[in-house]
Amino acid sequence: MWAETVAVTGAGSGIGRAVLLAAAARGARVAALDVNEAAAASVAEQALTAGAARAVAVRCDVASESSVAAAFDTVSAAVGDPGAVYANAGIEVNAALHEFPAGDWERVVAVNLVGVFLTCREALRRLVDAGRGGSVVCTSSPAAFVGHSGGGNSAYAASKGGVSAFVRSAALDYAPYGIRVNAVVPGATDTAMLTAGGADPDRLRAAAATQIPLGRLGRPDEVAAAVLWLLSGESSYVTGSHLVCDGGLMA
Ligand code: NAI
Repeated sequence: MWAETVAVTGAGSGIGRAVLLAAAARGARVAALDVNEAAAASVAEQALTAGAARAVAVRCDVASESSVAAAFDTVSAAVGDPGAVYANAGIEVNAALHEFPAGDWERVVAVNLVGVFLTCREALRRLVDAGRGGSVVCTSSPAAFVGHSGGGNSAYAASKGGVSAFVRSAALDYAPYGIRVNAVVPGATDTAMLTAGGADPDRLRAAAATQIPLGRLGRPDEVAAAVLWLLSGESSYVTGSHLVCDGGLMA
């Protein structure tokens, strides 16, 4: 059973793009939100080819309250209020903690955590008003649960730990409305984020794969399958949960 409209933040690339296209292939009306307007427009175009009933691309900086509010207004006008929302946009900045620039720390938290709050707030307002339940999914990370030594990953880990705590609490608050709130926990997934800033992407991919029991990186479409299940009515009795899709990394 599919929500009439699925909205995805960070839809221009990687996991968000895969989720948008998978929802499109099931005939959903889709909204691609991304700070990269060109990337959002491109994926919305591909969504129509993939089978979306309708598709809209909206520039949206999830760290900005006014941008998120305006983006959801645009989505509602263009394709209808979303019944399923994937708060996925995220960034990663790695640096040794004792030298971490405060501005970078704030930026990571602003996009990854405040962005999830702002996205979910707009989504929940509409879902509560509509009174028909709904599904919200956020993207957490293994970094929320286990440390990663030597990676300078503390800001990212803190932001994702916040997302996981947020999901549990929001799930309880909105359960009485029939609105489910869950998280997906992708492991090392082969996207632009994984190799960003690395001089040799193939070496980075190979190094990451050695840590994974299944012996390889995840593909965006594999994470998308997990997210689609959470977004859909097929997971109707699941809320406040974390669906781990990590090739056994945290087993
Ligand atoms: P990606 O870099 O391929 O895609 C991220 C998208 O978010 C891009 O299209 C980017 O333009 C957009 N974005 C960045 N800042 C934004 C903002 N302020 N407002 C709106 N859009 C913005 O990365 P990927 O891998 O697809 O990441 C998606 C989510 O998955 C992120 O939350 C990330 O932290 C999480 N994740 C990724 C893992 C991986 O190994 N790739 C592992 C665990 C979690």
